Amino acid sequence: MEQLLRNFFLFLSKNKTLTKLAKKYGLRFGAARFVAGTDIDSAAKKIKEINENGYVVTVDHLGEFVDNEQEARESADECIHAINVIAEQKLDSQLSLKLTSMGLDISHELVMENMHRILEAGKKHNVTVTIDMEDFERCEKTLNIFKELKQKYENLGTVLQAYLYRVEEDIERLSPYNPYLRLVKGAYKESPEVAYPNKKDVDETYKRIIKQNILLGNYTAVATHDEAIIAYVKELEKEQGIARDQFEFQMLYGIRLDLQKALLKEGYKMRVYVPYGKDWYGYNMRRLAERPANVLFVLKGVFKK
Ligand code: FDA
Repeated sequence: MEQLLRNFFLFLSKNKTLTKLAKKYGLRFGAARFVAGTDIDSAAKKIKEINENGYVVTVDHLGEFVDNEQEARESADECIHAINVIAEQKLDSQLSLKLTSMGLDISHELVMENMHRILEAGKKHNVTVTIDMEDFERCEKTLNIFKELKQKYENLGTVLQAYLYRVEEDIERLSPYNPYLRLVKGAYKESPEVAYPNKKDVDETYKRIIKQNILLGNYTAVATHDEAIIAYVKELEKEQGIARDQFEFQMLYGIRLDLQKALLKEGYKMRVYVPYGKDWYGYNMRRLAERPANVLFVLKGVFKK
């Protein structure tokens, strides 16, 4: 049943008509629990509060499925605006983005032009930009773009997904670029030809790549809400004498606040991924797919007047 619901929400997350329709409305279907607002000004207020409580942030302007050059350029403009707001308001925040919203599916020239503009703004204001990882189909292209841009911009990071069979090789391949890597389990529905279908294998690979990346000397952002993985990282820290400035934990806005607080109290660097924007629909559906129990929150949202 849980697997069925998972697939159902992942199917809904890819629906372009619903994505477009949702943009016209404010946050619905319980999305306010996972999304900090539809514009940067409301997100900035939340980020300020989060910073004041001791957490660092990465802010994400939600956007997927852009259809034309103009929409991709507007998405890039919004990212630059977010960087300017981070600088003006002295927020302790990075910026996360998806290459599809920068025009990845339209043309290489467009996505590169948009990324150069954003990374120049990031460089000027000392804001790190991280490229989220999307589905497998776009993984190779995303990593090639990352490698190309990383040669010019120090302030750039990306994400690798533990569920992909290729992940350990990718870590090796990226290592010479001195990468800032966020390691995650992976949120998309992938074929068993390219990704582990079983959670147990994903979890084991996740542990292996955390160790691999840290021991290669690369800064590692461990982005998970899984207590067993967090316990593993703490053990590794002791066992290998890993300095606290070599890694950090990251969690999504609105998820496992108790765990976020506990890690902060123990003196770990804890970064909260704060999404905002009109394009909240696909993101919200993926969060529901991760934990169909969240549907209860959705139902409450639907029935709330
Ligand atoms: P798992 O799914 O095993 O969950 C462990 C426990 O966490 C659950 O038992 C539950 O308690 C809690 N939990 C997890 N998800 C929850 C939810 N939605 N609601 C409530 N509780 C929940 N993926 C990707 O493919 N590309 C990317 O670029 C990113 N970027 C990213 C950034 C950051 C900062 C995070 C934290 C995650 C991502 N992800 C991602 C998502 C990631 O791949 C993964 O889908 C989620 O983090 C859920 O997996 P966990 O590691 O938390 O473990």
